[in-house]
Parts: sequence; C-alpha cells; structure tokens
Amino acid sequence: MNTPSSIKKLKTKEKIAMLTAYDYSTARIMDAAGVDGILVGDTLGMVMLGYKNTSAVTMAEMLHHTKAVTRAVKNALVVADMPNRSYSSVKQALKNARLLIKEGKAKAVKLEGGTEVAAQIRALTRAKIPVMAHIGLLPQSVKSQKGFKVQGRDLLSARKILQDAAAVQKAGAFAVVVECVPEKLAKIITKTLTIPTIGIGAGKYCDGQVLVYQDMLGIYDKLHPKFVKKYADIGAAMKNVFQDYSEEVKKGIFPSREHSFDMDEKIISSLQTNRCRKKRNTNCG
Ligand code: KIV
Repeated sequence: MNTPSSIKKLKTKEKIAMLTAYDYSTARIMDAAGVDGILVGDTLGMVMLGYKNTSAVTMAEMLHHTKAVTRAVKNALVVADMPNRSYSSVKQALKNARLLIKEGKAKAVKLEGGTEVAAQIRALTRAKIPVMAHIGLLPQSVKSQKGFKVQGRDLLSARKILQDAAAVQKAGAFAVVVECVPEKLAKIITKTLTIPTIGIGAGKYCDGQVLVYQDMLGIYDKLHPKFVKKYADIGAAMKNVFQDYSEEVKKGIFPSREHSFDMDEKIISSLQTNRCRKKRNTNCG
C-alpha cells in the first residue's frame, strides 16, 4: 500500500504516475494497472457533474466520490481534493480534511495555493493529515487567473510560483502538484524542492505526472489542453457501442436467446391453463 512517505521517497528513485478517478469501477482498474496514486480531483465537477468549472464543487460531492474510490483501491495512494471554500480558514480546513480522511478514507488531502494557504498546510500536517499542495494554475481561482492559462511566464509570476513552492514545502506538504507552468520553471522547482513535484502541463522534469483520465481517454471533449496526450479514443468507441446497442434493440436483435433465461415448459403450460380458467370468456387456444 503506497503512503505519503513512500511516495515522497520515490523522488530520488523513480517517476511517480498518478491519475484522477471519481468512481469505484475506474479506480479499481487503475489500481490493478499499478498507478502509484489516485487523485479524487475536484475536476469531478466538470467531467462527472457537468459544471462549467470546479468552483461550485461541494464537500458532500467530494466525500461521495472519495468513498467510491477508496472502496476500490488496495495499493495506490488515494488523495482527496479539498473543494473551493472548504479551507478558507485553518479551522475549516481541519474540519473538512478530517471528514475526507475519516469518512472518505482518503490517505491525504490536496489543496490549492502557495503562501496564502501555508497556515492551513502547517495546521493539517501538525494534525497528522498529509497534504499534497497545488501551485501554478489553480483551477479554483480560474477567474482571477483569467482562464485556464499557462502561469509563470514573466519574471514576477515565476518568482511568485517559486515562493509558493518553497512555502508549501516549508509548511509540511509531502508533495506538490505543479499545474500549467513552462517546463524550465518546473525543472527549477523540481531541483529546488526536496518533496516530489507532480506535473500536469509542466513538462518532463517533474518527479511525477498526473492526468485527468477523461482527457487521456477522449471521454470529455469540452476542453483540449495542449498538455494532454490522448492515449485512446474511448469516447468514440463508447459512442459506436451505444449506437450499435440502440440499433439492435430497435431491430429486435438484442437480447437473443444467448442473453435470455430458459424455463420449464410444463410450468409455462400450467401458468397458461390457470390464466384461461380465470378468464373463462377468453380464447386461449
Ligand atoms: O482536480 C483535479 O483533478 C486536479 C488535477 C488537475 C491535478 O487538481
């Protein structure tokens, strides 16, 4: 079973592979495939619940999906995202993180931000709740960051991201997601920190990678970030299968005998005889 500390130790040994998951069946397949970590990301608001962005996701929704994932996982480290407004204060962060760990059975939580959430990370770490930090593009602040855009391209914002990286490490985070920053900035962050960097749109020098599985499988087609590699077009395959099914139902091809249950003919005859007796005027043949 992977733990925050076993994941942390991988920094100097091997790359860390993480994916998002939000439901039992998918998490089970990912765990069997041997991914190191599964993030129950608040992206679930977009890819599972159809919200425009992640801002509206609630604690109740995060808990619901975290429980589904942790029921499935035996080996991967399950990290649950803290949704928007669930960690505005230290007190709130502690209360909600405890819920995700105790009820959701996650092994760690993730929250977005750098210096401005250092106090929350410090308090959670002191309370023995492992924290994965998240810097660079912060989807919960997508309005103030002016959309889903690469962060840290100018000197000022690159310095701020470096400060954030140092602050979350100092506060006790065991790893940090670095989202949508230039590859060379992510390289500097990765070299500077002693905790692993988990990149998404941050290039090859990060210690690990995370992808939203609907993006890599072509299931969610509303956004096409440059950093996503489409490993398969499962969305198109699903559409074809649903079309085939619909056509077969309409033509009476499905279900065939192969997918139906048999019954003793004598029982059927008795059933029909009884029905004829009850409906005396009906011609039952
Ligand atoms: O919510 C999420 O899925 C995330 C990933 C994009 C890292 O935070």
